[in-house]
Amino acid sequence: MDQLRFDGRVAVVTGAGGGLGKAYALLLGSRGAKVVVNDLGGARDGAGKSNFADAVVKEIKDKGGVAVADYNSVVEGEKIIKTALDNFGRIDILINNAGILRDKSFQKMSDQDWDLIQAVHLKGAFKTTQAAWETFKKQKYGRVIMTSSNAGIFGNFGQVNYSAAKLGLVGLANTLSIEGAKYNIKVNTIVPTAASRLTEDILPPDMFEAMKPELIAPVVAYMVHESFEASGEVIDSTLGYASKTHFIRSNGTPLKHKPSDPVTIESVREFWPKVVDMRNGKHIDRIAEVTVDLVEKLQEFDERSKQDAAIGRESYWSSYSYNAKDLALYALGVGASVANPGDLKFLYESHDQFAALPTFFVLAGMCMEAPVVPKAMPPGKHADFSNILHGEQYIEFVEGFPGTEGVFETRTYVVDILDKGSSAIAIVNSEIYQDKRLIFRTQQHIFVVGQGGFGGPRGSGKAVDVQAVPKRSPDAVVEQQTSKDQAALYRLSGDLNPLHIDPNVAQISGYKQPILHGLSSLGFAARHVLAKYGNNDPLSVKALKARFAKPVEPGQTLVTEMWAEGSRAHFQTRVKETGNIVIAGAYMDFKNNIGGSGASPAPASTGLKSDGLFAKITEEVSKNPAKAKGVNGVFLYNITENGKTVKKWTLDLKNANVYEGEPKAGKADTTMTVSDTDLIEIASGTINPQVAFMKGKLKISGNIMLAQKLGPLLKSEAKL
Ligand code: NAI
Repeated sequence: MDQLRFDGRVAVVTGAGGGLGKAYALLLGSRGAKVVVNDLGGARDGAGKSNFADAVVKEIKDKGGVAVADYNSVVEGEKIIKTALDNFGRIDILINNAGILRDKSFQKMSDQDWDLIQAVHLKGAFKTTQAAWETFKKQKYGRVIMTSSNAGIFGNFGQVNYSAAKLGLVGLANTLSIEGAKYNIKVNTIVPTAASRLTEDILPPDMFEAMKPELIAPVVAYMVHESFEASGEVIDSTLGYASKTHFIRSNGTPLKHKPSDPVTIESVREFWPKVVDMRNGKHIDRIAEVTVDLVEKLQEFDERSKQDAAIGRESYWSSYSYNAKDLALYALGVGASVANPGDLKFLYESHDQFAALPTFFVLAGMCMEAPVVPKAMPPGKHADFSNILHGEQYIEFVEGFPGTEGVFETRTYVVDILDKGSSAIAIVNSEIYQDKRLIFRTQQHIFVVGQGGFGGPRGSGKAVDVQAVPKRSPDAVVEQQTSKDQAALYRLSGDLNPLHIDPNVAQISGYKQPILHGLSSLGFAARHVLAKYGNNDPLSVKALKARFAKPVEPGQTLVTEMWAEGSRAHFQTRVKETGNIVIAGAYMDFKNNIGGSGASPAPASTGLKSDGLFAKITEEVSKNPAKAKGVNGVFLYNITENGKTVKKWTLDLKNANVYEGEPKAGKADTTMTVSDTDLIEIASGTINPQVAFMKGKLKISGNIMLAQKLGPLLKSEAKL
């Protein structure tokens, strides 16, 4: 490896008569730097003066290096820099290392002990660096080190003066790294721990022996080399080990539920756990980002509150991240096996078609911890883990199909609580976003046992219902035995409910043995349907719906019966050993026709009601292009009839252009899918677009916020 050299560079090392500074000076001198060995030569507490530096200069020279001694105090830093300029004509590197200790417990700390420590450490570094700054700027080159301490970062008994000064040096380096950036001046901080006269009575003797300053010197030398580009870093090093320290801010939280709520001491207490939750904490590099970050979060809070107001329910937001390992583990949990070659693409991350099973994404909408159901229960009724059951599940892919790793933001909210007599059913929607784009949505029916009878509705227009399977015998049947370990394996994908593994809990809950997760059985069935009708291609799937009818015991055999109907595969799953139907009324919708009795293609459509609307919009946009451009978006409308897209319209408002078909250049920012009839009702104001969206009549993918901007424009221009 090439040696990192310092030929032609001039380095000033303060406090280099002994300890760490000496090790830095010797190393830099041995690599070609001309070194100013500064040391006041005082005692450990700063008292007195002597010529420590001479011995270090001699050692450098003896080894063929170039060095001069300087005996000034760092408090007069300009004199030290002058020594460099007088002797060598330049300065490139400054290592602020000089230091003393005046330890006292806080109450005994005198003004003098406080002031002297601030003077040597903080003011000394300020003076010396300021004296060199002019030269650094002129030559557009400088490498500066500040020396901090773990006592500053973590605090240390008896060192208030020293801790304050040492953390002050980090602040000094932070700002200088910004001010020096455009002049190629890099300012970094070392946090050393080494054997020296400062630590001889602090470190245990065997540690003292091992903690050689020579082990830290290469770290500091690297950080002052011309090849070192970072600035503002805090690097801790000892015993031949180095690490970086930086501040992390929690994601934080608004201190209220809605923007209009007041902030009170009580609301602060309520939100405190979120204030201090560091799980999604991040480092912020620049002060400006603090504000940008905050503004973005408050905007998001506003937007989310508006969405809640539109539906009259409070949503719960959470994030969900997954990777290739999660996909493979899930696939094993739902019966994928290397024994079946078609399953390999769900199990092996290097497979050229490696992909997620569509049902995997149901997990992102589960939000087991979401308090939405308990909060939405009517007065006198309650829901908790002891009385809820997963009744039905729906998932629909809105935009594309997610990749093999990613992070989602999930919004979960209750859309309705149904009264089924003895029990209640909470219908819980989740919308799953990636980079603010709605990627897919899920709906769960949560059965709340024994909590009905409150006079609520029995059905809901917002529920996606199961569909009875056709009366004829199934078009295809696939059988697969689950393993005894199926539930033990499936639970590792996140549902750790002991009912699925702990025999005692299972018995208390009234089962002979732990039962398989309903979602695991559903995963089996969905795999069977995908392989049969979707060419085993997850991208072919649009949506899936199922009801969990009865439990399955691990080890039982699942028999999936399927019927093809147009683009829909109906299915149900039985347990072979008992004949019981365990998944009922289920279906998987595909993007394409899969055959069967409903496979006739959509009739060609000619005149649509919405043609007139688009003609009107075209006219308005051409009359007032500036207003259209103000929206600054490209919208694609898929107009459907009987569930089939029959016409597409592009509103390219960036260019004030409206035409039939897909965008001619680039991609639509927002895609809206709506039936011809519903679009007319929305445009004429008969249905509110928000309601149409909630009811699934208007499907929006891409930038939803942009669609809201379009709303008023569309209405005002569409007076039919
Ligand atoms: P050291 O006492 O061997 O070296 C410090 C040197 O600075 C001494 O040679 C001293 O004469 C010189 N000095 C003191 N006041 C000065 C002044 N006003 N002007 C010029 N020179 C002056 O101690 P060590 O351990 O090598 O310390 C070096 C630096 O590392 C100090 O800033 C110290 O606070 C810091 N540090 C050391 C740690 C350790 O474990 N040794 C831990 C954390 C920080």
